[in-house]
Amino acid sequence: MREIRKAVLPVAGWGTRFLPATKAMPKEMLPIIDKPIIQFIVEALIEVNITDIVFVTGRHKRAIENHFDYSPELEEHLKKNGKEKLLKEVRDIANLINPIYIRQKEQLGLGHAVLTAEPAVGNEPFLVALGDIILENEKEELQRMLKLFRRFGNSIVALMEVPREEISKYGIAKVREIEENVYVIEDLIEKPSPEEAPSNLAIVGRYTFTPTIFEKLKITKPGKGGEIQLTDAMKLLLQDEVIYAYKVENKVYDTGNPTDYLKTVIEFALKREDTKEAVISVLKEIFEDEKVRNLT
Ligand code: G1P
Repeated sequence: MREIRKAVLPVAGWGTRFLPATKAMPKEMLPIIDKPIIQFIVEALIEVNITDIVFVTGRHKRAIENHFDYSPELEEHLKKNGKEKLLKEVRDIANLINPIYIRQKEQLGLGHAVLTAEPAVGNEPFLVALGDIILENEKEELQRMLKLFRRFGNSIVALMEVPREEISKYGIAKVREIEENVYVIEDLIEKPSPEEAPSNLAIVGRYTFTPTIFEKLKITKPGKGGEIQLTDAMKLLLQDEVIYAYKVENKVYDTGNPTDYLKTVIEFALKREDTKEAVISVLKEIFEDEKVRNLT
């Protein structure tokens, strides 16, 4: 059984939901307090020993390349000012991964982005992580996925239950449970209406794939939104290979739209010792304000 050594991170999207913030800055660089979204995922990958990271980028994404590189002037500045901890932090993230950047010249959809990574991945199984979602205890969730991969050698997809009104935001799976929290995928549909949906089990944005997915992506026709969808290629993959699934057991934080992003930032701030007290007192202050109370 081949180990998963590479992860593909599609980061070429426009980030239209966050304009104008994302006009010149990638949405993956939006901070959750002081850490860019993308770094949470990269750190979890490092923790499970996946350090060859293929970023599928586009124009305007230079900030991501710079973020995972050395920054000699900044490092010098931190050194001079005795900020050793910060120095280690900015240095480590560049030291610990081997980034590979590949350009998606046209944004033709998530499936197309994954296919763009083929020359960098080759004929190997690989992991895909989407930047819209951060998982609590991501390391544990990735370990669960990798364990299933080692056991079955097939593609694996992480799922979560979503309320009916959110079904149309996700790829939805029809599954058969084969043992506790291990499922076989029977069907997949990208962003269905609640009526069309075969379940309320949504694709979380964490996958491992056998390289057969590339062959399927090459013959996947544009689907939802006129885009080449990864979910549609997985549906084709089902004709040849079993795809296994599991439900994530940790909290899922959505960062893909401004409201959920804001919620995630507040929740993270409430979890962090250095920001918790301040956020609670700010929130209290706001809600005690007569004018705010009248708004709600
Ligand atoms: C993508 C996938 C979808 C998945 C979702 C998870 O959609 O196409 O199947 O459920 O990520 O975040 P997007 O959010 O990029 O529109």
